[in-house]
Amino acid sequence: MKLLEDYIKKYANVPNENVLKVDCFLNHQIDTNLMMEIAKDLKEHFKNKKITKIVTIETSGIAPSVFLGYLLNVPVVFMKKNNSRIMVDENYHTQVHSFTKNKDYDLIASKKYITKDDSILFIDDFMANGEACLGAIRIIEQAQAHLVGIGIVIEKAFQEGRKKVEEAGYEVYSLARVQSLEKNKVQFVDESN
Ligand code: G4P
Repeated sequence: MKLLEDYIKKYANVPNENVLKVDCFLNHQIDTNLMMEIAKDLKEHFKNKKITKIVTIETSGIAPSVFLGYLLNVPVVFMKKNNSRIMVDENYHTQVHSFTKNKDYDLIASKKYITKDDSILFIDDFMANGEACLGAIRIIEQAQAHLVGIGIVIEKAFQEGRKKVEEAGYEVYSLARVQSLEKNKVQFVDESN
């Protein structure tokens, strides 16, 4: 998505060759005009899918998901990251390992809000190693819901996420695919071809 790539070029910081900081429009401050354009792009891409619910993960997946949920007129459910005691009867849960943060966390979702009748579009802000996405897939599978698509705002294509999610049998659609952050510079996949 050209507008998103322009934002990244203009506003992102690259503190090292693994991390892209986009606090000023996505991860801390939220640019609402950009979120609406992201939502429109996702709506267009998934227009042939029957979607009854958007599912994301707190915190930064929520903003684009809410704009998309509004456009599609469907609810948005955000999975929670929780280290306190989990009520196993009431919630689906799975453990996720974050390579970026080098820690494990529990991902949970209430059985009330994800059910076998749902056709789900999963949205997240970043895909790095894909572990959060795979955790969300496990929960959606536990609920026996139908996962119709995966939409990612920014994919770090030099990491393993897409490969792992595709090996699990799902397609990934990303609005911006970062090929490299070397020399503190952002290069997108289409620029390196
Ligand atoms: P993975 O799920 O793809 O394996 O990613 P990983 O655990 O390695 O990433 C942990 C967190 O760091 C996630 O956010 C992820 O979105 C974020 N992240 C990974 N790489 C980058 C990056 O280069 N730039 C930015 N800005 N974020 C990155 P989180 O902890 O869930 O944060 P939040 O959603 O609560 O804001």
